[in-house]
Amino acid sequence: MAKFSMAPSNLCMAIVALAAVAAAAAAAVEHTFVVSEMKMTHLCNETLVTVVNGQLPGPAIEVTEGDSLAVHVVNKSPHNITIHWHGLKQRLNCWADGVPMITQCPIRPGHNFTYHLNVTGQEGTLWWHAHVSCLRASLHGAFIIRPRHAYPFPKPDKEIPIVIGEWWSINLAQLGKNMEDGYYDDTSSATTINGKLGDLYNCSGVVEDGLVLDVEPGKTYLLRLLNAALYSEYYVKIAGHEFTVVGADANYVRPFTTDVVAIGPGETVDALVVASAIPGKYYMVAVGGQAPKPDIQIPATLSRATVRYAIGAGNGDEAAPPVAPEMPDQHDFMVSFNFHGNLSSLNRTDSPQVPATADENLFVVLRMGSICRQGRLSCKRSGSKESIIVETMNNVSFQLPAAAAATPLLEELYYDNRRNGTAGGGGGLDQLYTLPDRPARPFNYTDRALIPWGPNEAWLEPTEKAAVARRFRHGAVVDIVFQNAAMMDTDNHPMHLHGHDMFVLAQGHDNYDAVRDVARYNLVDPPLRNTVLVPRLGWAAVRFVADNPGVWYMHCHYELHVSIGMAAVFIIEDGPTLESALPSPPVDFPKCNQ
Ligand code: C2O
Ligand code: CU
Repeated sequence: MAKFSMAPSNLCMAIVALAAVAAAAAAAVEHTFVVSEMKMTHLCNETLVTVVNGQLPGPAIEVTEGDSLAVHVVNKSPHNITIHWHGLKQRLNCWADGVPMITQCPIRPGHNFTYHLNVTGQEGTLWWHAHVSCLRASLHGAFIIRPRHAYPFPKPDKEIPIVIGEWWSINLAQLGKNMEDGYYDDTSSATTINGKLGDLYNCSGVVEDGLVLDVEPGKTYLLRLLNAALYSEYYVKIAGHEFTVVGADANYVRPFTTDVVAIGPGETVDALVVASAIPGKYYMVAVGGQAPKPDIQIPATLSRATVRYAIGAGNGDEAAPPVAPEMPDQHDFMVSFNFHGNLSSLNRTDSPQVPATADENLFVVLRMGSICRQGRLSCKRSGSKESIIVETMNNVSFQLPAAAAATPLLEELYYDNRRNGTAGGGGGLDQLYTLPDRPARPFNYTDRALIPWGPNEAWLEPTEKAAVARRFRHGAVVDIVFQNAAMMDTDNHPMHLHGHDMFVLAQGHDNYDAVRDVARYNLVDPPLRNTVLVPRLGWAAVRFVADNPGVWYMHCHYELHVSIGMAAVFIIEDGPTLESALPSPPVDFPKCNQ
């Protein structure tokens, strides 16, 4: 009799058994990434590039929500390497975030390291890239997380990753050095789509290969777009077709239809495209946006691929040239503003809810400044060679603390916590400089008179370098208003936060005004992003919950901007329980000097 009753212990076993069934469905996926140099020829030029597994873009990681993943990185290149899993929430897994000297010592040439990752509670498109200055231009790939159950939209017939990147004829390590030395004039040689330059480029008349997407009439394709470029935001169109945007940064959005996708560096967009046009060939074009004059202009960058219908049964003319889309003006920033403004979250029962109020409020002005060369205290500014242009947040420009050359900040934090936070040993944590809540010296941030070099902006230029950081109590709700300033340039800034998604509450033109703009916050269905595009001559407001302990990099995803200091580290404290504290480092964690 007792044998058949459900005693509490049996009930418990039943739950364990159910959990085991669910766990069994999650796979353990493994990849090996061999990083090495290889020669590639484009535009009549042979270039040495660093790649993963001999591929550019690198291999796509494809997993299902809930899987665990191990990526063995074998460094056969002459460079120090780390791989960052861009957008992965890395819950209690900051050790695997892959930022040199912030979370880990790099993997040195001839060494290996295995990243252990999990993809719990995230679905959609992310990506991975080396977090080593410009090398990421050739070390990146898609990171695709499929739902365990179903898409919240009709299942597409096929999925296609679309990686927008750049081809650089210049050696990428050299490009990084040039940026550090204050030489910013290098530009990419071409835009690429899935590594291909496309037929707008040629070498002595021989056109470059372009991507061809073969489609069948009536079928639905899920394009997983990501922008891996060092520089531009891109506007993407396909002649004769519309996109239904369904996701961004591995978060579902309320579907909306548009003929153009705007995608900033670091961002991803999932969009459905139905092959509903008259069978034929259609160009997909990606054009790099840029701020109009008086901002400094670089040559227009664009690339195109071809959407090709299966031609047969007399539909379509094989020889006819593809139909070209009418592209927006590369200077029309409203394309980006509107696209980003159309995003809202597809609220599902398990979606994270936006907290109603914040515990901390930061107002962060993003802008250029300058420092004097060779550590001098005064110098000529306004573009003079005596000074060097840097990017700042609240008028400080990030640099790693000197002590972090030996020990990554995350390791130091971990061992400090074990000693009850009695740092004081002169390590990197002691050398941090607190990111101010707001700029010390307010000004009219979006005054166009500050754009050209000269007396209008010169008085605002002097700035400093420091190890900018901000510490947050575990669980704090943090609001940041990013105000873009028109100092010397009016680029937008795709601000990326590691290890967290941010609710984008609002964006606007001109100067943020708390009294007016808080009332416009979307607290119902704000989109969740790991990268928020702060519009040019405008602002964006985000809210996030600082509940993932560790040291997280927060930076602009334009490579030039981050390399000249538009960055900070966010330190998030351990929670009160074992389940909310950072676990110990991996046993085989790379060492810095050995
Ligand atoms: Cu995709 Cu810190 O970067
Ligand atoms: Cu920027």
